[in-house]
This record gives sequence, C-alpha cells and structure tokens, in this order.
Amino acid sequence: MTTPIPLLFIVLLTATRATAPSSFDIQGHRGCRGLMPENTIPAFLKALDLGVQTLEMDVVISKDKQVVVSHDPYFNADFSLTPDGKPVSKRNQKSILLYQLNYADIQQYDVGSNGNPAFPEQQKLKTFKPLLSEVIDEAEAYRKTKNLPAFAYNIELKSEPSEYNLSQPEPAAFCELVQAVLKQSLPPERVTIQSFDFAILRQWKRGADAGKYPKVKLSALVENLRSPEKNIEELGFKPDIYSPYFRLINQDKISRLHDQGILVIPWTVNQRADMVRLKEWGVDGLITDYPDRAKGL
Ligand code: G3P
Ligand code: CA
Repeated sequence: MTTPIPLLFIVLLTATRATAPSSFDIQGHRGCRGLMPENTIPAFLKALDLGVQTLEMDVVISKDKQVVVSHDPYFNADFSLTPDGKPVSKRNQKSILLYQLNYADIQQYDVGSNGNPAFPEQQKLKTFKPLLSEVIDEAEAYRKTKNLPAFAYNIELKSEPSEYNLSQPEPAAFCELVQAVLKQSLPPERVTIQSFDFAILRQWKRGADAGKYPKVKLSALVENLRSPEKNIEELGFKPDIYSPYFRLINQDKISRLHDQGILVIPWTVNQRADMVRLKEWGVDGLITDYPDRAKGL
C-alpha cells in the first residue's frame, strides 16, 4: 500500500526546486575580461551584476610588498598606458616590473582606456590595477548596496619557479602577504587559492595545517598533458579543485576526479556550446571571460 504524500509537502518541494540557487559555479575570469578591462574594479562589479558565483582574479606583489591584482608581473603592452598617457611598447613591457615599483606608482598607469584588441566587446574606460584589499572592500560594499547573495573569490597567485626573486617573491613570502590580506577581510569558506605553481599550494596547505593560514579551498591549475592522477601525485595531496584548460578535460577524467572527491572547474570557456557540453559532462563550474554567455546554464 502506498502512503499518500500530503499536497502541501509536494507544493513546498516544487517551490523550493524552482527557487533554489544553482550550485553550478560560474566564475568571472579576471572579473569579466570579455566586457570590461581585466582584473579591475569595474570588471569585478560588472561580473557581480551578471550574477557570477565567483570572482576569479590574479595577484602579484609590488616593491613595497602590496598584493596587487594583475595577471602579468609587468604592464602589458596590449592595454597599458604610462602615467603620461603613452602606450607601453611591446619591446619594453617586461622591463616595467611591478615587483620593482611601489604601489603608488603602479596605480598611475591606465589599464582600461586603450581597450584590448583581443576582446573587441570590452568597454574602454580609464582605470587602474587595484590592490587585493581594495577589490574585496569594493566588492563587499557593492554586495551590501545591491543586496546580493554571498559570492566567492578565486585568487590565483601568479608564480613560476624561474621568476622567484626576479618578478615575484618565493612561495613562503608570497603566501604570507596574501594570507595577511585575507585574514582581515574574508571568511575562509568564501575563498579559493589557485596556482599553476604547486609549491604555492603546498606552502599554503602547510600554513593552514599548522593553523597559521586560513583554511581556504585549494585549486590546482593545470595546462599539461599529464593525467590528473600524475598531476595530483606531483602536487603531493588531494586538492579541493582540479582546474584544467578546458580542452584538456573529458568525461572520463571528470568522473575519475569526482570519484576522489575533487571538484572540476575548467578555464577559460568562452563559447556557449563548450559551456553546455562541459556542464553535460559533469563539471562543477567553469571560468569564463563572458559570464553573460553562461546565463541560464
Ligand atoms: O584560473 C584559471 C585561469 O585564469 C588560468 O589562466 O593565464 O588566465 O590566469 P590565466
Ligand atoms: Ca587566473
């Protein structure tokens, strides 16, 4: 004999399903690089307007040990103007290292008025490379003003062993500076630390295990042809998230990672057809320059 299900329960269940937020994690790459100057405050606020669950960003360190939001450790000639309004030349771009400039000088460069030829839809506007602390303050103030749900921060520590002490500090000093900013601004459950440099992830894990660093999620960035198992073996522990270039992942790898309890969040997925296919394959989210194209996934 079947037990009758009360009508009220069915109505409540249907209503909950209709209104529950999707757990699929749409991450705005460098804010929303397709639409606004990358890694700038306007890009992060626009990404929030577009409803992303997570703001993806990159950080580097200045001469005066500030954590600056920037993909490159220099001023990229594709979109940077010097303080006197002249374009940075391709030939010179790598000689203007942020690691050799104080933040007060870094802030004088305009990284938005020029646009970015690779992203023709990007709005041109005068803006600057912000501090990580400023991005968090501005995004949290915006969240309050607009009454937005809590979103997450996926912060990439841009690090390469060949650049230690040249354009960046070594992992221990780098992590120390980033964790100091995060400790005073965000609860760890809203933060992911990502890096291609596994020494950074190992350093953060050691700090967190010792109770010194916030227990954030750790995400292994991957752009190589090795299997996920090999990459995880090299890392030396199970990351919370495996984050490959999107063309390097397939359904079988996704399910093997899921079997180990690891989430899969590929980058940088800009075409709607790729987004749909990856979601069907079971990824847990995706990182995109165009959060507008991910609407309704
Ligand atoms: O975090 C994923 C993605 O951002 C890695 O590539 O070079 O855009 O930082 P990149
Ligand atoms: Ca990144």
